[in-house]
Amino acid sequence: MSGDLSSGEAPTPVDLVVVHAAEVLTCRAASGRGVRGAALGRPERLADGALAIDGGRIVAVGGTAEILARHSGREVIDATGRLVTPGFVDAHTHLVHEGFRHEEWGRKVLGVGGGTGGTLGGGIEHTARVTGAAGDRRLRDGALARLDTMLAHGTTTAEAKSGYGLTPVAERRILEITAALDHPIDLVGTFLGAHVPPRGVPRDRHLAGVVAQLPEVRHLAEFCDVCCDPAGFTPAECLRIANAAHEHGYRLRVHADQTGHAGGAELAIEIGAASADHLEHVSDRAIGMFGDSATVATLLPGVSYHLMDMVPAPGEPEWSEPRRPWLARRYRRLIDAGALVALATDYNPGSSPTLSMQTVMQLSARLYRLGYGEAWHMSTINAAVSLGRDADIGSLEPGKRADVVIWTVPSHEMVVNQFGVNLVASVIKDGAVVHGAERPVPVASNADMES
Ligand code: NIG
Ligand code: FE
Repeated sequence: MSGDLSSGEAPTPVDLVVVHAAEVLTCRAASGRGVRGAALGRPERLADGALAIDGGRIVAVGGTAEILARHSGREVIDATGRLVTPGFVDAHTHLVHEGFRHEEWGRKVLGVGGGTGGTLGGGIEHTARVTGAAGDRRLRDGALARLDTMLAHGTTTAEAKSGYGLTPVAERRILEITAALDHPIDLVGTFLGAHVPPRGVPRDRHLAGVVAQLPEVRHLAEFCDVCCDPAGFTPAECLRIANAAHEHGYRLRVHADQTGHAGGAELAIEIGAASADHLEHVSDRAIGMFGDSATVATLLPGVSYHLMDMVPAPGEPEWSEPRRPWLARRYRRLIDAGALVALATDYNPGSSPTLSMQTVMQLSARLYRLGYGEAWHMSTINAAVSLGRDADIGSLEPGKRADVVIWTVPSHEMVVNQFGVNLVASVIKDGAVVHGAERPVPVASNADMES
């Protein structure tokens, strides 16, 4: 991958080499943007692999002998017995909020009902209420603590949405707090003004407020998200927001068809959104449309798991042969159609309270029957495509940022196969170790040896 060996030339010095990895999983796309179809299941893996890193970027990826012939590291990490991968890209989080909805969930588990009134609507309004009552510092500290956890679990880039404001003033505060977060994880801001229709406010007035706010918060958010769902907004309402957002230079994301089919996926593809997320009730038509589309289909197994929503849609059998849950069959058709599919946590305090992309990959295999390589590609390079960052992150390739995870296990399969424990050994962000036990060892120069 790093080109021909030029015999006889002295190795070029670089800041850091990572050598002797049991496996380097590059997650790179063979061609084009992202990985689709059968290629999802065939990740590139290098045995006795190595990386050369300089100036925070990857200079070369290959076998250890090849890399050491070309580059000498000023520091070295010996990754013997360890898997080395790109950092995770978590392309859907509701990072800034106060409070959790564990009481409501506990009632749901017991089937006794009550609480804040369900996931969408009442639940989001509840979170918006407690978020509004919390001070800036409390919200900031909570978000930073979560980012620490995400980093420790291997995430190096994350999207972060507003959406627990529900009023222009409160939405702006969340976006400002998000933009001011100082953390090794790179954050991509998203304005989710049209999350759910707040009770007691005419829908039209709420939507007009979102449209009016778009230019005011443009400097705080790269993306605009809309919730196109029976419990959110109609396609026409979402289109109104999306058109205005597009005029102001936002790229678009859509919460699509979570609680029922609303035409959210079709809308996302038609407006050229970067991503359509959820898709629990994606239609056959939309599945076909994803095949030719650059819109990423982002699946959220944390939500399926936590809401215990692996139940069939009306008229669908729960299982078919081989015993495959209905949602898994639907998502398999999405992959077979050639869709660009990603995974994300949808971290939020109600319907998906997990910060770990490891957990998400592990759930994706168990709930959606995704293969090992599929889960990895969807959590790295394809997620980077959905954030428009795939030229820079999402795979281990020369020229990309050196966002790298070193694992306590030797193969990518083992990360998906095990569950419920953090398997990260160390995290490298922009070429520097920012988490974990692995410390680069300075390489003694000839002068040191002689003295
Ligand atoms: O992505 N419109 C959907 N919104 C969220 C739910 C957030 C919450 O429950 O607080 C989602 O799952
Ligand atoms: Fe969400």
